[in-house]
Amino acid sequence: MSTTTNTKWNPSLYDNKHDFVFKFGEDLVHLLDPKPGERILDLGCGTGYLTNLIASTCAEVIGMDNSQEMIAKAKAEYPNLDFQFLSATDFQFSEPFDAIFSNAVLHWVLEKEKAIACIYKNLKPGGRFVMEMGGKDNVKRIVDAIKRVLAKHGFTKEAAMDIWYFPSVGEYTSLLEAQGFRVTYAIHYDRDTVLKDNASGIKDWIKMFGSSFFKKANEQQTNEMLNEIQESLAKTNHKDGQWFADYKRLRVIAIK
Ligand code: BEZ
Repeated sequence: MSTTTNTKWNPSLYDNKHDFVFKFGEDLVHLLDPKPGERILDLGCGTGYLTNLIASTCAEVIGMDNSQEMIAKAKAEYPNLDFQFLSATDFQFSEPFDAIFSNAVLHWVLEKEKAIACIYKNLKPGGRFVMEMGGKDNVKRIVDAIKRVLAKHGFTKEAAMDIWYFPSVGEYTSLLEAQGFRVTYAIHYDRDTVLKDNASGIKDWIKMFGSSFFKKANEQQTNEMLNEIQESLAKTNHKDGQWFADYKRLRVIAIK
């Protein structure tokens, strides 16, 4: 859950209301297919749920994250595992890995070339990078609504901010190939995701993940804008009594 946008993470809220982030990641662990004895890095491990799942296959795992709060929670939850506070754009381990795994993190890393270079450097020759992140047009309806409402309320600078990086298959695999990776699998797929808490699903999602858009607004302005954003999404992001986020995922396997 590494970010370059100074988002302050609330690990308990993340685990309680937004656990779909790592529950969906279980499927990505199957794609990783960890083997006993392998040395694996979980890049952006958050509260450590998937790190622990990978460790249960007898692989040797290290979890790293750029949030002190997330690392503290992961260490408390899984005291037998190794978690380190590190940035995705600046890390170097003394021993390279058989695989680097990353779920729902790299869209926070705007310096993507730096992250890809670090990942490459920290893999053994033949090692694999298995990742999922937000792909092109991920949560586009939510992002468009946030920007429209911010601009309407005079927050034009914030409305122009790009806090996430959501690349297409072509764009991201080209970056990987430019670094020297051989891409063996890439898919961009839709995954509408039901948000917990019917009444304030969109508002809670934005509070958790998009709070930096509202740093310059006071509490009343923020609440007004969040209400307006959620209402504007009622036709497109509310179905069968539930709010959902219009996720689009990018999943890639690349070999060094
Ligand atoms: C995602 O997992 O796609 C995501 C999560 C939070 C903010 C933006 C995207």
